[in-house]
Amino acid sequence: MGISPDTEAVRAEAPGIPGAASGSLNAPRSFREILSGLEAPFLLAPLAGFSDSAFRFICAAHGASLCYTEMLSAKGLCYGSRGSEAILKYREGEAPLGIQLFGHEPEFIEKAAGMLRELPNVLIDINMGCPVPKVVKNGEGSALLKNPKLAAECVRAAVRGAGKPVTVKMRTGIGPEPFDPAEFAALMEEAGASAVCVHGRTREQYYSGKADWDAIRRVKQAVSVPVIGNGDVFSAEDGMRMLEYTGCDAVMAGRGAMGDPWLFDELRAAWRGKPLPKRPEPGDIIGTVRVHYGLLADDKGEYTALREMRGHASFYTKGIRGSAELRRALNTASSAGEFFSVLEKLGR
Ligand SMILES: Cc1cc2nc3c(=O)[nH]c(=O)nc-3n(C[C@H](O)[C@H](O)[C@H](O)COP(=O)(O)O)c2cc1C
Repeated sequence: MGISPDTEAVRAEAPGIPGAASGSLNAPRSFREILSGLEAPFLLAPLAGFSDSAFRFICAAHGASLCYTEMLSAKGLCYGSRGSEAILKYREGEAPLGIQLFGHEPEFIEKAAGMLRELPNVLIDINMGCPVPKVVKNGEGSALLKNPKLAAECVRAAVRGAGKPVTVKMRTGIGPEPFDPAEFAALMEEAGASAVCVHGRTREQYYSGKADWDAIRRVKQAVSVPVIGNGDVFSAEDGMRMLEYTGCDAVMAGRGAMGDPWLFDELRAAWRGKPLPKRPEPGDIIGTVRVHYGLLADDKGEYTALREMRGHASFYTKGIRGSAELRRALNTASSAGEFFSVLEKLGR
């Protein structure tokens, strides 16, 4: 699809994003080796509907050292679904990539991981946390927590297929019934997981309540592979506290990065003991939204880019004076030109 004059104009005015991605990693053997090659231990979470190539590029430019794709069906990939191709889109300048697969059939997971074997610069992650009923009913996502034997088989299958590090992203349980995340994580390690990412909530909690960082700490004490802590990191202070409190090796941010890639600049600064950079001004936000839109338009065409940008823009503009009214206008803008002329009013 061609790029309209509207989009060209939008892009010409964009100031661009300073900074470079963290670079590539050649055939790392373990997640620990990946970590040792990263400039800082801050990762972008897999976010369905958000962590596509365009957003990952922006987060990498702001300091995310490793970014995860949206979750991708292992079976869908094996059958060549069109959605898979879009999710696997990767551009120069992105940070090293974690491709997240979901599924419950070891044979499909092995085959899908095998299809990703030759891709440089990636690891494979297995989703054991998705709480969505459609996924859980299929025995996938967080349902795997209930079936450690099958979960371990899925990890072994991914390791056989991938020829590169395989990580597991899990929750702390399903519901109120007893579940020991440390025991589960140790089983995944035994099956060959190269790192375990723990989102400190149960399936039943979805995203409510406070993430249980004690559970992350217990997992860290129970396994010898690196542990990635996840849940409720919205500021540099949160990230540093999570590292210290749980002893985890890396911190993954999800919702905190949506509309706020500057979070990664702040995390890096805090980690290096430097003063935190100033929060972005409306002009910085508008510039980043322009770049983000341009990348999306390149990847998905202008029609889809504009629609997806509305969702991103509602996060980019959150909390700014007068932005609720502005968001309503952004949601009805029918062209990129109209969208950006509305956005120019941000903060005025
Ligand atoms: C919009 C959205 C989409 C998500 N998609 C995925 C996904 O595809 N795979 C996954 O493992 N987790 C997914 N998650 C969960 C996040 O990766 C993360 O575990 C969760 O948001 C907790 O981290 P946070 O408190 O930093 O947001 C998603 C969360 C949100 C809000």
